[in-house]
Amino acid sequence: MRRHKIASIPGDGIGTEVIAAGLQALDACARRDGGFALDVTAFDWGSDYYKRHGTMMPADGLATLRPFDAIYFGAVGAPDVPDHVTLWGLRLAICQPFDQYANVRPTRILPGISSPLAGVTAKDLDWVIVRENSEGEYAGQGGRSHKGLPEEVATEVSIFTRAGVARIMRFAFALARTRPRKLLTVVTKSNAQRHGMVLWDEIAAEVAAEFPDVRWDKMLVDAMTIRMTLKPASLDTIVATNLHADILSDLAAALAGSIGVAPTANLNPERRFPSMFEPIHGSAFDITGKGIANPVATFWSGAMLLEHLGEAAAAKRLMRAIERVTADKANHTPDLGGTATTKAVTDALLRAIAAENL
Ligand code: IPM
Ligand code: MG
Repeated sequence: MRRHKIASIPGDGIGTEVIAAGLQALDACARRDGGFALDVTAFDWGSDYYKRHGTMMPADGLATLRPFDAIYFGAVGAPDVPDHVTLWGLRLAICQPFDQYANVRPTRILPGISSPLAGVTAKDLDWVIVRENSEGEYAGQGGRSHKGLPEEVATEVSIFTRAGVARIMRFAFALARTRPRKLLTVVTKSNAQRHGMVLWDEIAAEVAAEFPDVRWDKMLVDAMTIRMTLKPASLDTIVATNLHADILSDLAAALAGSIGVAPTANLNPERRFPSMFEPIHGSAFDITGKGIANPVATFWSGAMLLEHLGEAAAAKRLMRAIERVTADKANHTPDLGGTATTKAVTDALLRAIAAENL
C-alpha cells in the first residue's frame, strides 16, 4: 500500500467548507483505487488563529509542514484582518520558502457549464496558465517612508532574476510539449517595462531554442485580454509573471464559466519541498456558512494533488467524476446559476467515484 502524507489547511471563510468536501473526495478516490492511502493531518491556521495568537501560523509552521508529501489548502482572507497580513502570513509564507515557483492553472469549459462568450464551447477553450510564483511583482521588495506625512512615499519593486525567469520558462515550455498542440504564449509588457520584462523576453527566446518542437509566440498583457476573449481557440499553454497571471487567470476562470471551478497547483517541481494545491476563489465571506460554496475547484485541485503524488489513475478517475457531476445542471451551485448546495454536489461526486462504470 502506497501511503501519502497530506497536510490540510482549510484556512478562512468557505475554505473550511470546500476542503471538508475535497477530503471526502480524496478519501473516496483512495478507497476506490485500493492501492494507496492518504494520512491527513489538519491544521487550524488562518485568521481565527491570528486573532488568538497574533500570527497566521506558528513560528515552526514550515518545519511542521516540511515532511508532508502535499498540502491541501482552502483560502485565506477575513473581513476584519488586512488582506496583506493574511496573504503574507500564510499563503505566501508557505509558497515562497517552499520555493513553489510554478503555479499551474488549468482552465477548461467543463461539461454542463457554459462560457459567457457566445458560441464558445469546450473545444475552443482549453488552456493552462503557468504563473511565475516566487518573484516578479510579488517579491515583497519595497518600503514606506515618511508615514502619514504629505511627502509619504512607497515603493513596490518587481524582481526578475535570470535563474527565476529561466526556470519558469523551462517549466512552461516542457509543459507545453506534453500537450497535443505544443503551443506556448509568453505574456509580457516589455514595451513599457523596459528592464525586467525585456530580460523576461530575452530568456524566453533563449529557452525556446531548447524546445524546437514547441511553437511559441509573445503577447503584450493588455492585448492578451483581447485575444483570450475574442480568439480563445488560438491559445493553449500560457506563461506570465506573478501579477499578470494573477489577473489573466481570473479572466480565464470567468470565461470558462465560474471562478468556483478554477483549480491551482503551487509546485516545487524538484520536490525539495511539499507542493500546495488550492482552489483559486478565495475565502468568499459573502457566502461563508451558507453551504452553497462550489466544491468543484477544490475537487479539481485534488485531482492535481493526486497527479503530483504519482496517483495518475486516481487523478483521471476523479476528473471523470467531476465532469460527470458538472454535466448535470442539478449539481450546479449558485455561482453557476443553479441552486445546489456544497453537500449535494459532494454527494453526487462521491456517487460518481463509486460508480461501477466510471
Ligand atoms: C490568487 C489570489 C491571490 C493572489 C490573492 C488571494 C492574494 O488572487 O491565487 O490568484 O493574488 O495571488
Ligand atoms: Mg488571483
